Amino acid sequence: MMTATGSGLVAEGISLGFGGLQVLSDVSLTLKPGVITGLIGPNGAGKTSLFNCLTGLYHGQRGHSSFGGTPLDGMGPAQRAACGITRSFQNLAMCPELSLLENVLVGLTLKRRSGWFSAFVPTPAQRAEQEDTERRAIAALNELGIASAAHHKPSDLPPGTLRLAEIARAIASEPRAILLDEPAAGLNAVETRDLMRALKRLMRPDLVLLVVEHDMDLIMELCEHIYVLNFGRMIANGTPAEIRAHPDVIRVYLGDDADD
Ligand SMILES: Nc1ncnc2c1ncn2[C@@H]1O[C@H](COP(=O)(O)OP(=O)(O)O)[C@@H](O)[C@H]1O
Ligand SMILES: [Mg+2]
Repeated sequence: MMTATGSGLVAEGISLGFGGLQVLSDVSLTLKPGVITGLIGPNGAGKTSLFNCLTGLYHGQRGHSSFGGTPLDGMGPAQRAACGITRSFQNLAMCPELSLLENVLVGLTLKRRSGWFSAFVPTPAQRAEQEDTERRAIAALNELGIASAAHHKPSDLPPGTLRLAEIARAIASEPRAILLDEPAAGLNAVETRDLMRALKRLMRPDLVLLVVEHDMDLIMELCEHIYVLNFGRMIANGTPAEIRAHPDVIRVYLGDDADD
């Protein structure tokens, strides 16, 4: 039997340009459920642009994408989110006035079925829905090991906790795909290790998980399957061992190191 995520999140032959600048050229990838997939490449390779194509923020001039066999072409971010595709942003987007728990709740409340009127005159059914939302938010914070920070304001918390909270906000909406753009950016080594552990822990057989990173070591440790972008072209994909031994990848990353 096919699961809801079935064949996964698939992009085929995506080309994207801005004016005279070709950002992606005939790029394809398949994000399989149950597999943590990595996307790496030097800065400017087009990783975020491809990420934006997958989430519907950008639309390529060519190519197709689908999720569990359902075509996504022409769908914007809201429609793709309704299909269960959730994303993080490269920069944190937490409301500073709200506690961590409230920040997670805000994302969920937007998806609630009952309207604004219930905020003033809640019926028992609506109260039950609100309780269910809170339960899911707390469960998500628990799953990421940060429930003890639930009532703190973002400004009182370290970047590692905020990053985990962002992911909690994503999983609380019970997504079928989670796409993360450089989740370890701005984190120290300990926070990065906690993040990796949390991502491995939340993996499930029916979940699509994509992690975009320019740090090769991190992706090697975390991911089962890795795609490599360079100058808007997919130059390799395979297991960590295959990627590590790939001549084009070695060339790109030695060149990248020489620049740093
Ligand atoms: N909205 C946009 N308009 C014009 N150029 C863009 C836009 N988005 C990305 N680019 C360009 O696409 C190229 C790839 O950028 P990006 O996808 O952010 O790379 P990466 O995430 O791998 O560092 C860069 O040259 C960048 O300037
Ligand atoms: Mg980027």
